[in-house]
Amino acid sequence: MGNTLVIKGLDGERKLEGSVRITGAKNVALKAIASTVLFRDSVKLENVPEIDDVFRMLELLREMGAEVSHTKSGSYIVSVPHNLNTDLPLEIAKRMRASIVLTGPVLARYGKVSFPHPGGCLIGSRPVDLFVEGFEKMGAKVSFKDNTYSVIAKSGLRGAEFFLKNQSVTVTETFMMAAVCAKGTTVIKNAAIEPEITDLAQFLNKCGAKIVGAGTSTITIRGGKLLTGKGKSYKTMPDRIDAGSFLILGALAARELHITNCNPVHLEAVIQALRSAGVDIKIKKAEIIVRAPAKILPVDIKTHEYPGFPTDLQAPMTVFLTQAQGESLVFETIFEGRLNYTEALAAMGAQITMMDPHRVLVRGKSELRGRKLKSPDLRAGLAFVIAAIVAKGESVIHNVDTTIDRGYEDVDKRLRAIGVSIERTESGEQTLAE
Ligand code: EPZ
Repeated sequence: MGNTLVIKGLDGERKLEGSVRITGAKNVALKAIASTVLFRDSVKLENVPEIDDVFRMLELLREMGAEVSHTKSGSYIVSVPHNLNTDLPLEIAKRMRASIVLTGPVLARYGKVSFPHPGGCLIGSRPVDLFVEGFEKMGAKVSFKDNTYSVIAKSGLRGAEFFLKNQSVTVTETFMMAAVCAKGTTVIKNAAIEPEITDLAQFLNKCGAKIVGAGTSTITIRGGKLLTGKGKSYKTMPDRIDAGSFLILGALAARELHITNCNPVHLEAVIQALRSAGVDIKIKKAEIIVRAPAKILPVDIKTHEYPGFPTDLQAPMTVFLTQAQGESLVFETIFEGRLNYTEALAAMGAQITMMDPHRVLVRGKSELRGRKLKSPDLRAGLAFVIAAIVAKGESVIHNVDTTIDRGYEDVDKRLRAIGVSIERTESGEQTLAE
């Protein structure tokens, strides 16, 4: 049985209003959870989003022998023992790509780790070659058998210098964390510069790590000792994808929407694109106020590593562009499988032409009609929710628990509060993606 969202569309009316509070960021909370392996004592994590990916990551650590207590909503204390089991439980790790970031800290602290080839969203091939190369550079031996990698560093990891052929977020985080415990100095060049990496590094530095340059393309880490969480806690930064998704929804359908507890600086590319499309956006320190315009202008979008337009907001933005008057080009440069959901938007009435696996041409304005939808991944799932809200008639979105719930906390509750007619039910539909 899967969960289903039933949404009654607004048929293009701009009437959502109120405020939406942004949660802590999934893509740093998961890494902060992994970083607890680097601590000799317990670590307090706050403003953690209550989402399925977080529950799975904590479950992984628990199964490996860590103690996890949930002190109140969004707050956890994690304590990792001296004898943690170093095999990532196959079933959970296989289903969640982000589990791979645990491998760095586990290998660095315990000298070995085994993990399955990770799964996750169906958005492209998602290789792990950079992880394998990095472990080997730091002195480990890697073998692969029965879909499982075994990595051993008999005399511990040692610092190394890397140049990443792709500016990968999880590779940067994995090796930044591994390097904290490795002997000597590690230099990561062509590192990813996403704000989640900076946030994680600042927290680790507060607890004794020596990381310099996070947020730039060269990160230098002096390693060698475990960290202490004594008297410290990590407060997860706001989720820029959660904020950006509500911003795009507001740009389509809000009389006036206040997006609170967010960091507008992290959303400059999105704000600029929406403003060029004619959207009225006001920015305060930790709040964005958005009003949908009467007429939306077309804009071309090209996804890029931070601070460029985030790939995780490409699908919601494509929905937005179906309502623009004219032609917009959407160019997905990061993942090759991340435009497949556009077929379902076309079935709702959007005019979208696939130019090649990385580019689609969107012609608007189209009237979207509600329908039955199955989300191929987490971010496209939220894009379907936005499309359903704008559409005429009712939409039924399946697979919510294996897609949308993985990354968005209380999505139906928060949408209902701003005027969306949305109900959650259980259905017998088979799940499509994990
Ligand atoms: C992170 O994925 C995020 N996930 C993704 O969010 C996000 O879309 C992506 O960064 C880009 O911003 C997490 O933080 C858990 P990458 P990640 O490695 O790190 C290539 C979501 O919905 N690559 O930065 O897995 C890869 O093929 C998710 O929240 C290699 O070549 O993405 C891609 O082209 C989806 N070899 C590029 O790097 C490797 O070994 C960037 O991917 C690894 C990656």
